Amino acid sequence: MIVTGSASQALAAALARELEEPLAPVSYDRFPDGELLAAVPGFDADRAVIVASTVSSEAHLELLQLQDAVREAGAEEVVTVLPYMGYGRQDKAFDRGQPISARAVARAISTGADRVLTVNPHEAAVCDFFEPVAETIDAAGRLAEPLPDDLAEPVFLSPDAGAIELAETVRDAYGEGDVDYFEKVRHSGTEVEITPSDVAVEERDVVVVDDIIATGSTMSEAIAVLGERGVSRVFVSCVHPLLVRDAYAKLSSAGVEAIYGTDTIERPASAVSVAPTVATHLE
Ligand code: R5P
Repeated sequence: MIVTGSASQALAAALARELEEPLAPVSYDRFPDGELLAAVPGFDADRAVIVASTVSSEAHLELLQLQDAVREAGAEEVVTVLPYMGYGRQDKAFDRGQPISARAVARAISTGADRVLTVNPHEAAVCDFFEPVAETIDAAGRLAEPLPDDLAEPVFLSPDAGAIELAETVRDAYGEGDVDYFEKVRHSGTEVEITPSDVAVEERDVVVVDDIIATGSTMSEAIAVLGERGVSRVFVSCVHPLLVRDAYAKLSSAGVEAIYGTDTIERPASAVSVAPTVATHLE
């Protein structure tokens, strides 16, 4: 049976259709002190596949409860799919006294799961924090699907060297185009500086590909740089459309043609589902 976290309902339903497995109803309650109680009253299967993006601290707790609840209800195998792993970017102690939050949450999730799968983690190394090691699902190819068929001499650009493989994957899935990357220097949580790449972009359509759009600072800076260089249209694509704060407004003011993300995080920009790719790991 498929069990959905409250932040991953569309994806869980799509996965249930792909795998032809039923969706278990989840009930929610709160105690007078505000504590959450997520339960699976109708769960009845040997395998539980829990699909839960941990987009908030509450979503983390809900996942831990669901893992425990299915085990209590008789699941022999608990598979946890983290479409988006929250706290995954806190993968180091950047200063003395700081936690490695990705490791802390991975340890907690591992205690209730026999298998953990996560979609395009920001750093593959976070998978090692799980016990057993989490499996990585590369769903970036899905991002080619919503792109228009008529891209003019497309260029697929990543905003930094770390995301070039994503840009390559999307280009390969699209079927044509050049691939390049910008140099990015981050000055703060919302300030980034992008240095243009050498590839010729004048009068060409550009697709900027990244794993995550959070505040939109990286993408809007990339769009601004491209605008100065006479591009035709700029599309932005990401696996995880977090799109926090004024990200939509920033991208829109920067002149983006369209924003395409997947349903690892459910947002208006979630134009394509990763369910078919996730399903291949669960059949
Ligand atoms: C960082 O290396 C990631 O790949 C993304 O570029 C980053 O998380 C995007 O954040 P923001 O939208 O806030 O610039």
